[in-house]
Amino acid sequence: MLDIRGKIFLAPMAGFTDKVFRRLCSRFGADVTVTEMVSSKALVLGSAKTKELISFSDEEKIRGVQIFGNDPEVMAQSVKILQDEFEYHFIDINMGCPVPKLVRSGEGCALMKNPSLAAKIVEEVAKVSRKPVSVKIRKGFDDENINAPEFAYILQESGASFVTVHGRTRAQLYSGKADWEIIRKVKEKLKIPVIANGDIVDFESAKKAYEVTRADSIMIGRAALGNPWVFLQIKEGFEKGYVETKVLPHMKIRVAIEFFTQLCSEKGDKMAVLEARKHLSFFVKGIENAAKIRDKINRINNATELLEFLKELASSLEKKESFVDNIL
Ligand SMILES: Cc1cc2nc3c(=O)[nH]c(=O)nc-3n(C[C@H](O)[C@H](O)[C@H](O)COP(=O)(O)O)c2cc1C
Repeated sequence: MLDIRGKIFLAPMAGFTDKVFRRLCSRFGADVTVTEMVSSKALVLGSAKTKELISFSDEEKIRGVQIFGNDPEVMAQSVKILQDEFEYHFIDINMGCPVPKLVRSGEGCALMKNPSLAAKIVEEVAKVSRKPVSVKIRKGFDDENINAPEFAYILQESGASFVTVHGRTRAQLYSGKADWEIIRKVKEKLKIPVIANGDIVDFESAKKAYEVTRADSIMIGRAALGNPWVFLQIKEGFEKGYVETKVLPHMKIRVAIEFFTQLCSEKGDKMAVLEARKHLSFFVKGIENAAKIRDKINRINNATELLEFLKELASSLEKKESFVDNIL
């Protein structure tokens, strides 16, 4: 029996939460990880590229596969394929994606405007799935259509085992503040576990999110980019009442080096250099001369050279930090 209460989830983030990044976050304390969203249609059509998105590492403890689509039969069919070929713990259905391409074709967050189709999707998927089925939703489609509590209730009655709520509407995309009150309203209406998502960035906000939403678990997205310590620090905060672990710049670069090395062995040097850029830009955030460092990183096309640059950067940062430490 899968118990997802009291856990910290790493949010699915297309283009970021591949196996290498999920492994890193798991090592730092993420209890639950979810793949980037994969197209149910592409799975049914046998796309090898889509299947590549669904490999897990041993470090990932509780693993979810997120699918999107709008055809109940195709989605159920994709789950049959998934469960025959992959080892995972739950299926998550994307009903929150705001991307125009998906919304225009009635997928992602567009489903929040079509509760009967959403219900049918959950019903059909839950019917064939040997694993629990969850759904990730938003507060609503826009300010005129805020329906997360009623919508989530329909999903529950259709067979969902838990729901994740991002407290923003589709119209908001990622702007404004996540509304945690709406998550509480969802929690009050449902029997199944509710996962709170949106703007949880550290121990203080995690504590506050639990207080306001009364959710069963929390999910962290953007705050984990370049900062896997967020999981460890939140857990430490709940255990001790305060966060002891400080993240120094050289530590970030050392972890970035480890991440990049794994990316190279997973995807090959050439692809790793290209894919590492977006991650490294988060790892260097807040470090002195970050813009210059980013610029330099983006000009390097060779894995060995990039590794050397990062190693030198880590050493020079470490020297600077111990110098400051000695003065103080
Ligand atoms: C780059 C990026 C990609 C995302 N991709 C997905 C996705 O594939 N599936 C999904 O359900 N949500 C996706 N999201 C939304 C996140 O899972 C999460 O709901 C959102 O970022 C709010 O949480 P946060 O404030 O902790 O970042 C994505 C967000 C970002 C920033």
